[in-house]
Amino acid sequence: MGKKGIDILPLDVKKLIKMLNAAFCEEWLAYHQYWLGARLMEGPMRSEIEPELLVHANQELNHSVLVVERIIQLGGTPVLTPADWFKHSRCDYDAPSDPYIEVILEQNLKGERCAIQRYKEIADYTNGKDHTTHQIATTILNEELEHEQDIEDWLLDLHRLKEDIKKIRL
Ligand SMILES: [Fe+2]
Ligand SMILES: [Fe+2]
Repeated sequence: MGKKGIDILPLDVKKLIKMLNAAFCEEWLAYHQYWLGARLMEGPMRSEIEPELLVHANQELNHSVLVVERIIQLGGTPVLTPADWFKHSRCDYDAPSDPYIEVILEQNLKGERCAIQRYKEIADYTNGKDHTTHQIATTILNEELEHEQDIEDWLLDLHRLKEDIKKIRL
């Protein structure tokens, strides 16, 4: 985007770039958490859920592409080294040290809720002011909402499965 195009934006572009850079770091951490967790995961329904988590991982990576392209269009510099991801990210990176499926899913659910908050803030900040960033943020937000729903559904299914097993034992 040209200098004039950036100048006429009725918002604090530096603040917006800071928010986008935080989102960019959060996406890479989310991608890695999904990517590794899916492979280490153990427990019921693993074979159905693992490929779905890898789909989520790829979507997070695609979000980082959308976000980094916008940072560059706005004249910003993306965070250049993974060593700085934790400094900018507001979301935690939960190492998959316990591979049990429910633990992995709970960790990812926490990440999704953090991402939902992030894109809601970016969408609100740009609403009616920077249509391009607003559109990117709402597009990503919709996918994060779908991810949250997927994980909540799997956790519910796992819970039901455990309840059924308990009934059989009684
Ligand atoms: Fe994402
Ligand atoms: Fe997500």
